[in-house]
Order: sequence, then structure tokens, then C-alpha cells
Amino acid sequence: MKSLVIYFSRAGENYAVGKMEKGNTEVIAEYIKEFTGADLFRCDPAEPYSENYRECCREAIAKQRSDARPELTAYLDSIEDYDVIYIGGPVYCGEYPQEIYSQLDRLSFAGKVIKPFTTHEGSGLGKCVEVLRKKCAGGKVEEGLAIKDSEVLLPESKALVRDWVIR
Ligand SMILES: Cc1cc2nc3c(=O)[nH]c(=O)nc-3n(C[C@H](O)[C@H](O)[C@H](O)COP(=O)(O)O)c2cc1C
Repeated sequence: MKSLVIYFSRAGENYAVGKMEKGNTEVIAEYIKEFTGADLFRCDPAEPYSENYRECCREAIAKQRSDARPELTAYLDSIEDYDVIYIGGPVYCGEYPQEIYSQLDRLSFAGKVIKPFTTHEGSGLGKCVEVLRKKCAGGKVEEGLAIKDSEVLLPESKALVRDWVIR
């Protein structure tokens, strides 16, 4: 089984955890790669979010309200070669950041197994699984995994990821 992780993650200033060199979701994506050999694809906006947390929140809310599809620096054209697709991101106002949809809208998920994950400050999976069930038509969206932002580096969290990928 060949797997791929499609994710969004933002380094910089974040609520409660201060300034991070590497985003929380990226840490989880790297655990998945370690356990499964998955390829990684990060959805990076052509115009990065502000380093400042409050400003970043304003930008995220504006994109969500307009259901924007922000331009990315690069796109995947196909996921044909993969069987299992991990989709992950931070929870932004209850959902994935819009950049995830910029990429998902270009792909066909028919016949794929989809494993959703989030990192968050308290919302868990939010609406992410529900949204993926609509967006990934023809794919089988499995049980999601949510890891709290302040806990991504704990060995227990890495163990949770290991148990989840083999489930
Ligand atoms: C713009 C913005 C909006 C957020 N909204 C939520 C939210 O609705 N619920 C929640 O639990 N956490 C929220 N958070 C916290 C992030 O989901 C959490 O810190 C996440 O781990 C960040 O992931 P990253 O470092 O990979 O970008 C928000 C953070 C930002 C920057």
C-alpha cells in the first residue's frame, strides 16, 4: 500500500505555544512518514499567512467567509499512484484552512482510503471529517485522529499516531 500525506502547516507565532520553528501538523505528518514511508505534500499558500497570530486569524476568517481557494506555490496533479491518502491540517475556526481545499478540489479520490487528521487547540477534529466526506467523493473516509497542539511532541502522541496508521 502506497501512501501520501497532503497537509497544511504554518510555522510562526501561535496561540498558547509561542513561536514555533516547525508547525504542529508538520510534526505529525513526519511521524506518519516515519511509520508508513508515505510521501509528503504540504499545501503552501503563494501568499503566506502573517507571522503574527492575531493577524493570521483575521486572514483565516476572511478566507473562510469567502470560501476562498488561495493560490498555492505548487499543486499535485494526480494521486493515482497512491492507495491511502492522509489529509491533515490545523483546525482553523472549526475546519481545515482553505489551502487544503485549493488542492483537494483538483484531485479525484475515487477508490482511495482517506485518513483525516488535525492538530488543534481544543476543537478536536472539528468539522474536518464531515467536510472530507463531501469533498472526497468515491473515497472511503476513515476514522480521524486529532492531536492537541501542545502535545504533538509528547511520546504518547507519537504512539497514538503509530496505532492509528496501522488500524
Ligand atoms: C488562524 C487560526 C485559527 C485557529 N482556530 C482554531 C480553532 O477553531 N479550534 C482549535 O482548536 N484551534 C484553533 N487554532 C489552533 C491551531 O489549530 C493549532 O495550534 C494547530 O496545531 C496549528 O497547526 P500548525 O502549527 O500545523 O499550523 C487556530 C490557530 C490559528 C492560527
